[in-house]
Amino acid sequence: MREKIKHLLIEIDSFTTNSVEELESFRIKMLGKKGEVTILFDDFKGVELSIKKEIGQLLNELKTKTQQKISDLKELTESSREVNKNFADLTLPSQSVSIGSRHPLSLVKNEIIDIFSRIGFTVSDGPEIEDDWHNFSALNFPDEHPARDMQDTFFIEEKIALRTHTSSVQVRIMENSKPPIRTISPGRVYRNEAISARAHCFFHQVEGLYIDKNVSFADLKQTLLYFAKEMFGADTKIRLRPSYFPFTEPSAEMDISCPFCSGKGCNICKGSGWVEILGCGMVDPAVLDNCKIDSKQYSGFAFGMGVERITMLKYQINDLRLFSENDVRFLNQFKTEI
Ligand code: PHE
Repeated sequence: MREKIKHLLIEIDSFTTNSVEELESFRIKMLGKKGEVTILFDDFKGVELSIKKEIGQLLNELKTKTQQKISDLKELTESSREVNKNFADLTLPSQSVSIGSRHPLSLVKNEIIDIFSRIGFTVSDGPEIEDDWHNFSALNFPDEHPARDMQDTFFIEEKIALRTHTSSVQVRIMENSKPPIRTISPGRVYRNEAISARAHCFFHQVEGLYIDKNVSFADLKQTLLYFAKEMFGADTKIRLRPSYFPFTEPSAEMDISCPFCSGKGCNICKGSGWVEILGCGMVDPAVLDNCKIDSKQYSGFAFGMGVERITMLKYQINDLRLFSENDVRFLNQFKTEI
């Protein structure tokens, strides 16, 4: 028995681990019900009286050492676990941060602003809730004039409505500044239309206004040609078709050569080779006078385009509703263009 105790003492001395599981099986092996130390205590009953004292002491020593060893190792494994928990593994790949993207309408609006600011246009802002004067009357829409029906309006009160175009901002600019005026007004506008792939009850416009002495239709045409080439590429052609707006005379609608088939004819341009992108014209002298600008001294041109329309042509988007649904699978496609 003496030999057995000595062997066990050596085994216990040399045992080491940092695993909780290993330590537990060591405890069971030594101090469990059928553990080596426990069995020795059981055998102690049969030890000869003459050596009982010596063996008893050795056994006690064995038990204390075992218990001491177990509690020491337990402390060690626990503290090393703590350390592991706080240890940042710098070799792990980092978690990727998902970066948002600009909305395609913002990208295109910013591009339009950029193109016009390069030729001296400033940016003007105005309210989305507008009075009758700024949205209609000042722009030569007399009361009861059928032209008011061209733009189905959301009314808030009898003479207050959600603006139907950002021409209202230009009225405010004309009223409050002196020519030369060279400005564009980007913003959201509202029309009471049923929502479909091609129409929505709100959309975005950029309208432009240039007023000075001797501004001519040739200036308008040249400005729009410059815009079309910057926006859709140097080979782009434009054509102006006569049209009607109450606030411009003469008025025109502008087409560009189809950016998809370069004018050859495809299903986007319905075989014509041309797509319409904006309305324009020379500011009606009555509008200048309404805004206290002397129409005998000054003339000007104006134009207005839908940002959605330009974006759809630029990115081949075929449904207007995609712009307001905010499906991330759609928006993610514009990620690189921040
Ligand atoms: N305001 C017009 C519209 O919303 C567009 C336009 C602006 C036409 C300026 C001519 C000149 O339809």
